[in-house]
Amino acid sequence: MNRQTYYLILGSGIAGLTVAIKLAQQFPDRKVLVVTKSNEDESNTKYAQGGIAVVMDGVTDDFEKHINDTLLCGDGLCVREVVEMVIKEGPKRLAELIQWGTHFDTAADGTLDLGKEGGHSNNRVVHFKDQTGREIERAILTKAHQQPNIEILDFHFAIDLITENNICHGVFVLDEKSNEIITIHSRFTILATGGIGQVYQQTTNPKIATGDGIAMAIRAKAKISDMEFIQFHPTALYAPHSASTFLISEAVRGFGAYLKTKNGHRFMLDYDVRGELASRDIVSRSIETELKNSGDDCVYLDCTHLDIIEFQKHFPTIYQNCALEGIDIAQNWIPVIPTQHYLCGGIAVDLNGVTSINRLLACGECSRTGLHGANRLASNSLLEALVYAHQIFKFLSQTDSEIKSVKYDFKRKGNPIAAEWVSTLKEKLQSIMQQNAGIVRNDTDLKNTLKQLQVWKNDCREMEREYAVTKAFLELKNSIEVSIPIVAYSLKRTQNKGSFYKEGKTINLQF
Ligand code: FAD
Ligand code: SIN
Repeated sequence: MNRQTYYLILGSGIAGLTVAIKLAQQFPDRKVLVVTKSNEDESNTKYAQGGIAVVMDGVTDDFEKHINDTLLCGDGLCVREVVEMVIKEGPKRLAELIQWGTHFDTAADGTLDLGKEGGHSNNRVVHFKDQTGREIERAILTKAHQQPNIEILDFHFAIDLITENNICHGVFVLDEKSNEIITIHSRFTILATGGIGQVYQQTTNPKIATGDGIAMAIRAKAKISDMEFIQFHPTALYAPHSASTFLISEAVRGFGAYLKTKNGHRFMLDYDVRGELASRDIVSRSIETELKNSGDDCVYLDCTHLDIIEFQKHFPTIYQNCALEGIDIAQNWIPVIPTQHYLCGGIAVDLNGVTSINRLLACGECSRTGLHGANRLASNSLLEALVYAHQIFKFLSQTDSEIKSVKYDFKRKGNPIAAEWVSTLKEKLQSIMQQNAGIVRNDTDLKNTLKQLQVWKNDCREMEREYAVTKAFLELKNSIEVSIPIVAYSLKRTQNKGSFYKEGKTINLQF
């Protein structure tokens, strides 16, 4: 089957839907097609807890402070022009989100309640309890459904970009309901496919985060960048029997919780004067060091000294999830470990969200804008997605092109690739990446991992030649595709920076 659309957007998280709404409102006669591989609300966005970092308090805070916090956290590798643009645009983009019906918590005087997170020198995180992402996703999906020219195709899996002479003409998509391959031609294609968390055994990311958009961009020869900078969140709930990983928001430490060893030592002050609110890379690495030295499985977050009634009001989901694990946070410390959380790098884009391929743009976690450098400042990701969605909208408002149908057939033959083959290889991939591309890396393991990944990449090619691809197979193939630059760039990097740490290399804290 063939389809055509003016704008084609892959992904229905904050990045994809914000671009879609803006284009649809501005151009009511142009079709905006959103393709998304799961339920329309399933995304990293939905699970965001802490909030959006925006300078809203003009008395104690200002743009310069937020800019400096972001630059310090990025450890010298942020692009200053991007940092300044994103932070200064923040209040306007937040106002739009509120206008579209998103609720945020307010203080007694009616102003926005501002939380604090690691690396921030001021309270500036706008939030809705510990369900900020769920609330944003609800509001933007409602808004998208109100636009008659937006169509959302759920359970449609984008397989590959259709490119010719470095121009993107659309995408091949697997309709999971009919099992058919659809060719969609578009004037412009926007990748908003999110992160790569499922490459690791332990991640805060949901199952959809398999790096599909970045893998498609790599195969289309788009420029990618900064893939070695993987952010590990310091405090995921340690629950070894659980199939998924639950995040304990950094806002809990902003609320006053202490990180302690099993013996009750508040160790973060040994590593950084900011204690529990040092930036994420420092807290995660400090926990890793503590665990290595003690041989313990986890450290603990102590909330017992906090006002528990207020805690429940701010963090109802965290309170409940801990209770389900048998942890009464008024009396028990919460066991926590660092866990893969975010990819700082991705598809390289300019200030307009334009990639190195014509008519292909990228937005949100799959993109690399230069905002995060070597390490993302907490709650700067939702902000980045909102601001770049607007940049893309502005750019596309002044640009046009023709639809060009390119005759390419997506070959699919034989029996489906066996599910067991896929699941076994997926486990092996997650295990090797967890082991060798984690918080602390070394060249020997990285070299061996890269060789292994190349073998698996070739195995996937062979499979594809003989059997029909399935969604699970395509996700595995993409996960291997994005793991290769994570490992290869890690091998190339000679200096430790931000979230990147390799044994035997120096750390340079100057910027
Ligand atoms: P996503 O929201 O992940 O959306 C990606 C979309 O692409 C999904 O709809 C997915 O189904 C679709 N997709 C993917 N591949 C395909 C394909 N092949 N075909 C079709 N569709 C596809 N950031 C903050 O700033 N503040 C926070 O408080 C915060 N808390 C977080 C808490 C958790 C637990 C997690 C996991 C992340 C958190 N983050 C936070 C990070 C932030 O949520 C994400 O970086 C951001 O939401 C990414 O938005 P996105 O639109 O780029 O991608
Ligand atoms: C959190 O709530 O700790 C996550 C915030 C983020 O990833 O920015």
